[in-house]
Amino acid sequence: MKFPSLFSPLKVGPYQLQHRVAMAPLTRMRADRSSFAPRPLNAEYYAQRATPGGLLIAEASPVMVTGRGNPGTPGIYSEAQIAGWRGVVDAVHAKGGLIFLQLWHVGRVSHSSFQPGGALPVAPSAVPITGEGMLAMTADGKMVPYETPRALESEEVGHVVAAFRQAAANAKQAGFDGVEIHGANGYLLEQFLQSRTNLRSDQYGGSIENRARLLLEIAQAAIEVWGAGRVGVRLSPYGVANGSGEAEAMPLYSHVVKALDSLGLAYLHFIEPRSSGAGRAEVNWQNVPSAMVLFRPIWRGVLIAAGGFTGETAEAAIAQGHADAVAFGRIFISNPDLPRRLRDGFPLTPYNRATFYSGEAVGYTDYPVHDGMATA
Ligand SMILES: Cc1cc2nc3c(=O)[nH]c(=O)nc-3n(C[C@H](O)[C@H](O)[C@H](O)COP(=O)(O)O)c2cc1C
Repeated sequence: MKFPSLFSPLKVGPYQLQHRVAMAPLTRMRADRSSFAPRPLNAEYYAQRATPGGLLIAEASPVMVTGRGNPGTPGIYSEAQIAGWRGVVDAVHAKGGLIFLQLWHVGRVSHSSFQPGGALPVAPSAVPITGEGMLAMTADGKMVPYETPRALESEEVGHVVAAFRQAAANAKQAGFDGVEIHGANGYLLEQFLQSRTNLRSDQYGGSIENRARLLLEIAQAAIEVWGAGRVGVRLSPYGVANGSGEAEAMPLYSHVVKALDSLGLAYLHFIEPRSSGAGRAEVNWQNVPSAMVLFRPIWRGVLIAAGGFTGETAEAAIAQGHADAVAFGRIFISNPDLPRRLRDGFPLTPYNRATFYSGEAVGYTDYPVHDGMATA
């Protein structure tokens, strides 16, 4: 066996994983374009990647309309979306797989064309995303400069917590095995965490404790729906995606990780800073810290690491105790049978970035499984 640690069982909450090759959450923008409900094509895609006792984390799904920022992303706030997800979940379960849903609000990473009544996107504070090459996608797929978002009123922050709670309940109704809260990549919850995007003076801004409050309230709400063992959280400390970046990352994330640790979650999921922004471009940042190495000592639960892993580096991370499982993104897109290819040492099919976001079956469900013949 080439990767004995990667292919050893792992307990995650109440679940017994048979291996530690997880599928990272991957936005693919192929839901129904008017209802934003998943459809049979999406069920086929996830089922292709399901393995007995393998964990899939389904793509980020907006919990409410203001949380949308991309065309064709599936939601989890309507009956049609719940029904659509039920089809996906059933197809994954039929193959013995486990599937969590990533709960999402994009905050300022949106455009008024997605918002009810054409209103401005919402955020902790009225701070737009700026910088070279930073462009918003409109509902009809054009790239334009970001607008200045509108700061949420204090009572509206409570509505966001309520929407995450309802979305967690909707995910349960759809039959998921758990939920992952998207606290990474510069989206709403990370905008609240970080001082460059959170200039608030109410109980959700200012001190580290206040900036972490929204994420922790949402984690608590999800736990009330699911129990702690079926709730995960994803974070990207030292990340730079979507204009994010915290000057004082260590104190902020130490506080967040310790606070989450006390909740007894299913897992904590880190994106390694070296691959921050991998959704938009091929990046491999040099001389950046490793999130799993930095924060493992203060996290007692299951730790999932993601970002630029190969079979070899995943095996090493687990064998050295830095992580318990590894989530693979881009190479899981192009290798539906990724766990088997890693286990049996089969070569990997390269991915085609041009078909990551939007489209139909091409670049989605048409990547081949390996024929099982050993190559020289
Ligand atoms: C096409 C694409 C879509 C992504 N969508 C999401 C997403 O919905 N939620 C999320 O947390 N990360 C998302 N990411 C980040 C991945 O989950 C992962 O962290 C990143 O690709 C690095 O892992 P990799 O090197 O194995 O690809 C996306 C990345 C890509 C390439």
